[in-house]
Amino acid sequence: MQTKVFLKESEIPKQWYNLAADLPTPLQPPLGPDGKPVSPDMLAPVFPMNLIEQEVSQNRWITIPEGILDLLLRWRPTPLHRARFLEKALDTPARIYYKNESVSPAGSHKPNTAVAQAWYNKQFGIKKLATETGAGQWGSALAFACALIGLECKVFMVRISFEQKPLRKVMMQTWGATCIPSPSPETKAGRDVLAKNPDTPGSLGIAISEAVEAAVTDTTGQTRYALGSVLNHVLLHQTVIGLEAKKQLKLFGEKKVDIVIGCAGGGSNFAGLSFPFTNDKIHGAKIEIIPVEPTSCPTLTKGPFIYDHGDIAKMTPLLPMYSLGHSFVPAAIHAGGLRYHGMAPLVSQGVVEGLFKPMAIPQNECFSAAMLFARTEGIIVAPETSHAVAAVIRKAKEAKEEGKEKVILFNLSGHGLMDLYGYDLFVQGKLVDHELHQDEIDAALAELKGLPRPSLAKTGKW
Ligand SMILES: Cc1ncc(COP(=O)(O)O)c(C=O)c1O
Repeated sequence: MQTKVFLKESEIPKQWYNLAADLPTPLQPPLGPDGKPVSPDMLAPVFPMNLIEQEVSQNRWITIPEGILDLLLRWRPTPLHRARFLEKALDTPARIYYKNESVSPAGSHKPNTAVAQAWYNKQFGIKKLATETGAGQWGSALAFACALIGLECKVFMVRISFEQKPLRKVMMQTWGATCIPSPSPETKAGRDVLAKNPDTPGSLGIAISEAVEAAVTDTTGQTRYALGSVLNHVLLHQTVIGLEAKKQLKLFGEKKVDIVIGCAGGGSNFAGLSFPFTNDKIHGAKIEIIPVEPTSCPTLTKGPFIYDHGDIAKMTPLLPMYSLGHSFVPAAIHAGGLRYHGMAPLVSQGVVEGLFKPMAIPQNECFSAAMLFARTEGIIVAPETSHAVAAVIRKAKEAKEEGKEKVILFNLSGHGLMDLYGYDLFVQGKLVDHELHQDEIDAALAELKGLPRPSLAKTGKW
């Protein structure tokens, strides 16, 4: 029985897939502070124009420039594995497959967009990138990309992760980047938060404000901001994952997939794997597509679909997305990359439409799933990825109860070799599950009163 399938280097996808072209109910535009749609020019101090054009593109297929293909070929195509040993342990009739994005140099899917963003910035004449990072995966991916391309890189790392995962900082430094804990005294956004709450664990929403501020206040005009998730162009760059997986499933002899699963922080690895399959679903295929989030940050399962800012200092435009409120600071769980108050507009619109059915899982169940995965398949997954593994195990058990041979595909978005502190606490029985209560959500959402509301229109087909 085959265990994994590789593609030849020549089989790497040559185009990215843009779901915006196929969404049954179109995406609603980002809005400025005046409630009017933002124009590309308004984003120019933050992003280079070539990426802004991609952000608003409605083209279904976008050609990947040769220069980016060259960079991606350092580790792509990535293998698709059949999780035979997990299947055996679960005694399930389901066939489980995983796309292994942990083989990238930084250890996750994040370099897929990091090399593309760094490349486009360099083409535009930019010298330095500023960014935020949660668990450190995105910061190290951008540091890696900037080292290859020759850009300076500054990373604001959410303080709790900075403390939990100090070696991520060393990875960033090794690739030549600067990494500081957020909130920091270096920016106005950081100083404001520290003045109110000096002991805050930090959040992605705070770190984004700091990185955007660092970019737009560089008077030389040579710094831009890079985001590791949420935005359309970031999700676009990740679609190489699903496009490769489709070819590889065929090589395994699979004619269809029943369930596609990815963990969802800002939505990029979930989108990267699932969007090419979402296209099939829109055209009639029967596929369950599941974004998985932590119960302590249940954006899709408990948040409303609203217009909200992507960051605490309201520096980003208002995005149409599921959100727990831009001032929401999630509990300090070990899946730092899933501690984001919002969700990508493309993923959010897919949930409104009914194309995606989100699920929330507490962190102890996730770590327990990750332990089983490590002891069967061998890979120690990132705490973020453990959410996908836990959902896969739930679905594989369901298949057993129903006696159905389901084909389940999930994204192994990263390894957890820099996240062993969380595993250590789990082994010692010291990990706490955080259930978020409605009154906490209501308190963060109260700040959004008066903001415009996006339409909840959908076709009603799913
Ligand atoms: C390994 C891994 N998986 C998933 C995520 C969540 O991000 P996204 O939803 O953008 O894929 C992160 C974010 O840091 C991550 O590091």
